[in-house]
Amino acid sequence: MPRFAAAALIALAFACGSDKPAPCSAPPTFTRDVFPIVQMKCLPCHSSTKTGESRMGAPPGLDFDTYDATMPNQARFADAITSGLEPPMSVPQLATTAEERDLVSDWRRCSYPR
Ligand code: HEC
Repeated sequence: MPRFAAAALIALAFACGSDKPAPCSAPPTFTRDVFPIVQMKCLPCHSSTKTGESRMGAPPGLDFDTYDATMPNQARFADAITSGLEPPMSVPQLATTAEERDLVSDWRRCSYPR
């Protein structure tokens, strides 16, 4: 990536901080924006394909494989991410970034668009 593009991306990341929330006319969506985070950082434990030990303690049935699976628990899901409670601190390599937490916060504020 050219150096100026990297600098622009970093500037953009800062511009997207929590003091500049996304307009809900163009909100983040689960499918496009939230799911890539889930796939990387939640599904290692909260997946319907996992049972027993391989869930690493994630409560049975609390799965985020799809929008429809997530929606019954959408507030808990979003709160867990924005508070930094989940993913668990015991797995530091899965920790969310400030940008990811802001994105989920915007998704919640805009009424959880699919
Ligand atoms: C390494 C495995 C693991 C990963 C990855 C993980 N979780 Fe969890 N999750 C757990 C465990 C274990 C619990 C039960 C902890 C407890 O009850 O104190 C839990 C509990 C939860 C709960 C219930 C908390 C409550 O009581 O309301 C929610 C919601 C949750 N996780 C969301 C997420 C989300 C969202 C992600 C991804 C950003 C995620 N988790 C990633 C293991 C994981």
